[in-house]
Amino acid sequence: MPAYVSHVRYVALAVPDLLTEAEFFETTWGLTREAEHEGCLYFAARGSAEPFILRLRQTAERRTDLFALAALSAAHVDQLHDSLTSEGVEIVSTPAALEQPGGGYGFRFFDFEGRLVEVSADVAQRRSSPPEPRSGLPLGLSHVVFHAPDVSATVAWYEEHLGLKVSDWLDQFMCFMRGHGPKHHCMAFVAGAPTLNHVAFELANMDEMMRGMGRMMKARMPPKWGPGRHTAGDNSFAYFNSPAGFMIEYTAEVESLPEDWTPRSFPRAADVMDQWGTGRLAGPADYPPLKPDPALWVACEV
Ligand SMILES: [Fe+2]
Repeated sequence: MPAYVSHVRYVALAVPDLLTEAEFFETTWGLTREAEHEGCLYFAARGSAEPFILRLRQTAERRTDLFALAALSAAHVDQLHDSLTSEGVEIVSTPAALEQPGGGYGFRFFDFEGRLVEVSADVAQRRSSPPEPRSGLPLGLSHVVFHAPDVSATVAWYEEHLGLKVSDWLDQFMCFMRGHGPKHHCMAFVAGAPTLNHVAFELANMDEMMRGMGRMMKARMPPKWGPGRHTAGDNSFAYFNSPAGFMIEYTAEVESLPEDWTPRSFPRAADVMDQWGTGRLAGPADYPPLKPDPALWVACEV
């Protein structure tokens, strides 16, 4: 099956303290606040043509409202809607003009485990230019990773329904998937209760990543894991927690794959997940226990 989508356009998160989260993403993480509409704040990255890559709004508890995938064309949006409908997938909204920055044409549905997914095309792109060299500012969104109780089943669902392709496995514990194009992954699934694992923002190279990391250190927000270099995707990484507790990543130099790529399977070993062995130098990770995202099977009102 051909891939219907190419990349993740944006992730929409909801937090109890919107002001603090918004301030953090704008001043420390390095995004730009582009718009405010119906209680939602929209953030773009200087180097991304997407009208926004992050949406924030306020809710009583932290949740992942939805994520959006870019379809190759409006015809692909219609084709995907029709095929998902015939396959019995729960459609939340039918293809129509989208009322958000950049507009576009899209629809929403629930995936295998109740994550709300938007697929869109014809989104008006903004004029962008890469951030100043050595600014350590994100170029755009790289990938989004979710936990799934049965990773193989979720991966099979995304292969079958959206045409995403498997790039690599980490044992049976984690799977990296790509859409149309050479980039190693735009999504990944990792074992655990169904909730967001992390959102990754791409920087131009490792030097820029280290500068972004330095900005976080100055803000007294040291990494939970990193700096390091993964094996699957070969990307450098540094993971942090946002003020609300979302795991977020600065990453750079993600591998590009040839068309005839054969997925690899790596062991779940420390020197595979962190080639350099530097990731733990900043301190042990202290991830809280996972619980299902309260937004599962909720048709977000905005
Ligand atoms: Fe990542």
